[in-house]
Amino acid sequence: MKVLITGGAGFIGSYLAEKYLERGDEVYIIDDLSTGSLDNIRHLQENETYKGRLFVTVDTILNREVLLELIGICDVVVHLAAAVGVQYILDNPLSSIMINIKGTEVVLELCAKFKKKVLIASTSEVYGKQTHAPFRETDDCVYGASGKFRWSYAASKLMDEFFALAYYRTMNLPVIIVRFFNTVGPRQTGRYGMVIPRFVKQCLRNEPITIYGDGTQTRAFTHVKFVASAVMKLIDSPKAIGEIINIGATEEVSIKELAERIKRLTGSQSELRFIPYDQAFGRDFEDMLRRVPSVDKLHSIVGPIPTFVLDDILQDVIGYFRSHENFA
Ligand SMILES: NC(=O)c1ccc[n+]([C@@H]2O[C@H](COP(=O)([O-])OP(=O)(O)OC[C@H]3O[C@@H](n4cnc5c(N)ncnc54)[C@H](O)[C@@H]3O)[C@@H](O)[C@H]2O)c1
Repeated sequence: MKVLITGGAGFIGSYLAEKYLERGDEVYIIDDLSTGSLDNIRHLQENETYKGRLFVTVDTILNREVLLELIGICDVVVHLAAAVGVQYILDNPLSSIMINIKGTEVVLELCAKFKKKVLIASTSEVYGKQTHAPFRETDDCVYGASGKFRWSYAASKLMDEFFALAYYRTMNLPVIIVRFFNTVGPRQTGRYGMVIPRFVKQCLRNEPITIYGDGTQTRAFTHVKFVASAVMKLIDSPKAIGEIINIGATEEVSIKELAERIKRLTGSQSELRFIPYDQAFGRDFEDMLRRVPSVDKLHSIVGPIPTFVLDDILQDVIGYFRSHENFA
């Protein structure tokens, strides 16, 4: 099979590319390297077994001609390219909306032209301010005012979902929409506000662990390898077509407890330092108090997938940063 991964030089994309290459597929990547990096896929490019099966184009998905050619060649498209991360969205409000809405529009239009199956990456952020747990795919989405810019990421991804469903309903385009919950693992950078790499780096340097808010907000963290397996299984499953599906783990942890666990696992001397949201992100910010998925639908479609407990995920990330002493 020939698979096009937009954003394939990114964190999740690079793991997915590796899994497809391991399986014997051909992988095409388009990435503008805005938040991704060729370092994420260098080990794949240098692997002799994958020679002649990995093709990388450094360009933006907004370049229609390039995308037209790539989608024409491939059998299936995994659309991951997006402006990602709360801090990144707040720093780049206009370009983020352009990429997340216009970029997806171009991908869907060209997939429809060639009738190619496409998986669209959405996010747990689309559930918005809901406080119950777990989130089911049929739950309401509740956002803050549009003046609070953090919601633009959720709203743009929700629009992508509507776009994809509209193509499915009107043109029978085989689309799959996945909502990723906090996905973590080696190679994720802490530059754009991702909490685990940030805490691990702070602990390894014995610097204060900076917790935004009071730390009672909870999350459930998923290993990126679980996410890559789930994506591949969904693409192979006819039952996933036209569906919205959560992908995540269900082990809920508060951010304060997460900081304490990372401190313990690294043997760090770091102190916990609490920073009010407005100091960390400015006045446009509101946080989500809980974010835990229901994965009933995922399992009903693809069956069980091996999961990772949180401590193992954390050890994996800590091991990665320890072996990369010059981490940024
Ligand atoms: N990591 C998570 O926890 C998480 C959670 C929910 C949703 N997601 C979604 O999963 C997808 C992948 O996220 P990730 O964590 O791997 O982040 P990432 O930033 O590592 O990956 C995104 C990739 O897209 C590329 N990109 C951005 N704009 C582009 C453009 N215009 N043209 C071509 N390439 C472009 C970036 O360079 C990067 O390599 C995104 O759609 C994101 O919204 C991720």
